[in-house]
Amino acid sequence: MEKLEDQIRILDFPDLGDERGNLVVVEGGSAIPFDIKRIFYIYGSDSEVVRGSHANLRSEFVMINVAGTSKVKVDNGIESRIIELDRPRMGLYLKNNVWKEMYDFSPDSVLLVLSNEHYDPEEYIRDYETYLKTVIK
Ligand code: TYD
Repeated sequence: MEKLEDQIRILDFPDLGDERGNLVVVEGGSAIPFDIKRIFYIYGSDSEVVRGSHANLRSEFVMINVAGTSKVKVDNGIESRIIELDRPRMGLYLKNNVWKEMYDFSPDSVLLVLSNEHYDPEEYIRDYETYLKTVIK
């Protein structure tokens, strides 16, 4: 059983900005620890909404609040942790097989998500009890 601290990582992207403003680059294989195959973004979610509530058999993710803030609860069936995404230079890397819930979205939240896999609904585990059975053997 892997430790949660080995399954997630906080990434701190350098700011390449200058007097004209900020510039953050996230390249697959360097700042992002995988080749990027999919990008999606979540915005317009109310503060009471909980999104995610799933784990992925293969997909890894990097989540970045490029605007606004949100919280991500990560859980591996044994340990859990809450990470606040509160700046555009911060990324949260999640390995596959980590349960995640995104919530507490600020009105201006734009949560950008990068993944190493194309979308495949078959690799999503959306039931927490099923998730526990797959990770705790
Ligand atoms: P869902 O996984 O429920 O979103 P969240 O993780 O934010 O809770 O996805 C919502 C809908 O969008 C669902 O019908 C599946 C679809 N979807 C795709 O088609 N491709 C994707 O890459 C994602 C993330 C979702």
